[in-house]
Formats: sequence, C-alpha cells, structure tokens
Amino acid sequence: MPLSGHSLAEQYPTALITGASSGIGAALADLLVESGVQVFGTSRFPGRPELAKSVHWLEFNGDSEEGLSEFIEKNSKLLTQIDFLINNSGSSYFGKASEIPDEILICQKHLLLESPIAITERVLPAMNKREKGVIVNVSSLAALFTLPYMEDYSSAKAALSAFTQKVITENPDSGIVIIDFQPGDYRTNFNQNIKSYGERDDSQNRVWDQLEKNLNNAPPPEKAAGDILGAISRGKSGTVRSGSFFQSKVAPIGHKILPRALLNWAIRKYYRLP
Ligand SMILES: NC(=O)c1ccc[n+]([C@@H]2O[C@H](COP(=O)([O-])OP(=O)(O)OC[C@H]3O[C@@H](n4cnc5c(N)ncnc54)[C@H](OP(=O)(O)O)[C@@H]3O)[C@@H](O)[C@H]2O)c1
Repeated sequence: MPLSGHSLAEQYPTALITGASSGIGAALADLLVESGVQVFGTSRFPGRPELAKSVHWLEFNGDSEEGLSEFIEKNSKLLTQIDFLINNSGSSYFGKASEIPDEILICQKHLLLESPIAITERVLPAMNKREKGVIVNVSSLAALFTLPYMEDYSSAKAALSAFTQKVITENPDSGIVIIDFQPGDYRTNFNQNIKSYGERDDSQNRVWDQLEKNLNNAPPPEKAAGDILGAISRGKSGTVRSGSFFQSKVAPIGHKILPRALLNWAIRKYYRLP
C-alpha cells in the first residue's frame, strides 16, 4: 500500500535487516533509523564495537541449518512482530565449481536461498493477519546474467527471485509489499569477502579483473538503499532493478529481447572468455 499521508515509521515501525553490518544493509539501516524506524540488524559478530549504536544487533549466521534454526528459535516472537523484512545477507565464492568443496557450495546455498526463504515464511503469516508489511529479498542482476566462476551464486540468486515471485503471486491484495530487489554492482565490501578456490588460470584472472573494475566504478550502496525505499513508497509488489543506468535499465531490456544464445555470447565477450 502506498505511504500516502503516513510517514514510513508510522506505516512500518519496526524493521529487520539481515546483514546490516556493511554495504547495502548498513546503508538501508542508516536510512530507516533516520526515518524513525526501529531497526533490528543481524551480523555474525554482533558484539563488534564498530557496529552502529542506533541498531539493535542480533546474531545470525545463515550459512548452516544450525545457525538458521538458532536465529529463528531465539527470535520467534520478533519475527511475528516486525513490519519490514529485508533479507540481505550474502557473500560468494569464486572458482571452478569442480574445485570448490561441496560443503562450501551447500553453505552458500543455505545463506543465499534457504535462509531468506525460511525467514520470509516466518514473518508472512503475521503480516497477512495485519494486512500490512514489507518484504524485500535482495537478489541480484546475476539472476539474469550468470557470473562466470560464480555459477552457484548466480543460480541461488535466480532461485531466490523465483521464490519471491511465488510469494507475490500467492499474496495478491494482501496489503504486503513484496519486492524482488535485483541490484547491479554496488561499491561495497562484497568482492573483498569473496573467497577463491583453486589456482586461477588466465580466463579466471580476466573475469576477476572485470568484476573488480565493475565494483570499483559502481555507485555507492546508499543509492541501492534509496531505491528500496522509493519502491516501498510506491507501494507495489514486483521486481525492482537498481544500479548504473546500463545495468539497471539497458541490460534487462537486452535480457528480455535477445535470444539466449546471443546473450551468452555477449557475456563471454564482456568477460573476455575464450
Ligand atoms: N555489492 C554488489 O555489487 C551486489 C550486487 C548484487 C547483489 N548484491 C547482494 O546484496 C547483498 C548485500 O551485499 P553487499 O554488497 O552489501 O556486501 P557486504 O558489504 O559484503 O555485506 C554483506 C552482509 O552480509 C552479511 N553476511 C555475510 N556472510 C554471512 C553469513 N554467513 N551469515 C549471515 N550474514 C552474513 C555480512 O554481515 P557480517 O559479516 O557482519 O556477518 C554483511 O552485513 C548480498 O545478498 C549480495 O549478494 C550485492
């Protein structure tokens, strides 16, 4: 529902942001706190002194079944009370899938897919009862354009977008605004936190250089946070793309109209793959 006449904090007094310690999550936490919203933020290390004092910190490690269950159990009441959920926690691995240990790929799928699904399912029934709420699942433009040597990241994000569309389809006219947020590159700590596996060959080095170049030239995460709030104020569920003009506007049109084989060729050219 659009915010017409109500401030964000009046409409949505409490928010939960997973991964609020850095990047997009931290920028969004700042904006929400400034707007008067009470923000609960998660981190794997909630005791770190550098974390914002204006956020209520909760411990959450989403890369395992145990971490997720512990978080849900400890915060079961809160999950029925929050008005605004942002499933944002994320990280990735880089390398040939065959060289990344299976258990690491499982952790990644857990963090990027199983955790946001489980948390969404915990908050939805109460939001449905109140006929009000916001759910933002932070996916990626990588859901449309597969990132080479980060295939599992791309496929988890594509699956998260599919899940979010399912939630939108199942909850029409519910009063809940549900957003499949697909950012392009943003200048955060994301690449710094990527762990590499295996020895990089020339083509991996070229892809990595391009990923680094993209992130270094990308807009700051405050823009992504502003785009999320802009989408909420419009009050409509759906996909929201955000980032540079090329990534948020031009590339998605290419994805819509070009044959897949041509897109894959363009991706190979872009990353200078042989
Ligand atoms: N930056 C981009 O270009 C970009 C583009 C498309 C999509 N995204 C998506 O945007 C989201 C935010 O990324 P960012 O760019 O802001 O990166 P970031 O600065 O590295 O922030 C990542 C956040 O995720 C949390 N996190 C990492 N591993 C976690 C784990 N195992 N369990 C729970 N939380 C964990 C971190 O919290 P702690 O370290 O405190 O636990 C941190 O707050 C991610 O889902 C990412 O996939 C980013």
